[in-house]
Amino acid sequence: MEARCPEDLLSLALAYVDNAYAPYSGYKVVAVLRDEYGRAYVGVNVENSSYGLTVCAERVALFNAITGGSRRFKELLVYSKGPNPPVPCGACLQSLSEFDDGSLRIYVAKANGVCDSLTLSSLLPRPFRL
Ligand code: THU
Repeated sequence: MEARCPEDLLSLALAYVDNAYAPYSGYKVVAVLRDEYGRAYVGVNVENSSYGLTVCAERVALFNAITGGSRRFKELLVYSKGPNPPVPCGACLQSLSEFDDGSLRIYVAKANGVCDSLTLSSLLPRPFRL
C-alpha cells in the first residue's frame, strides 16, 4: 500500500544518507527506526573490502536502538538514493523480528515523499524462533 512517508523520519534519512559507506556497491542506504516512545535511531550501510562483513543500514539502526535502551518499535523507514527502493533483506527482517510484537510498520521510501507501507509479518511471515 502507498502512503505519505513519515516526514520527520524522511528528513533524518536525507540528513544521514551521505554518511553511508558504500564504496563497493555505490548503493547508499539509510534506515530510521522509531521506538514506542517516539525516539528515532539512524543507521547507514557500512561496507568492507571483505564483502561478507558488510552490515545493512537496518541492522545498524536496530543495534543503535538496542544500545540506546529501546526494545519495542513502531516504524522503520528505509531510503536509498538509487533508483531501486530498498526492501529490507532477509537477515535484517529476522533481526527486526526478534523485537517485533506485530506493530512494526516498514516504510520504503520512493520518489516525492511517497512510501510503500509494509508490515514485517508480510515480508517475513515465518521468522525463526528458538
Ligand atoms: N543494503 C542495505 O543496507 N539495506 C537493504 O535493505 C538492502 C541492501 C546494503 C548492503 C550493501 O552495502 C548494499 O546495500 C548493496 O547490497
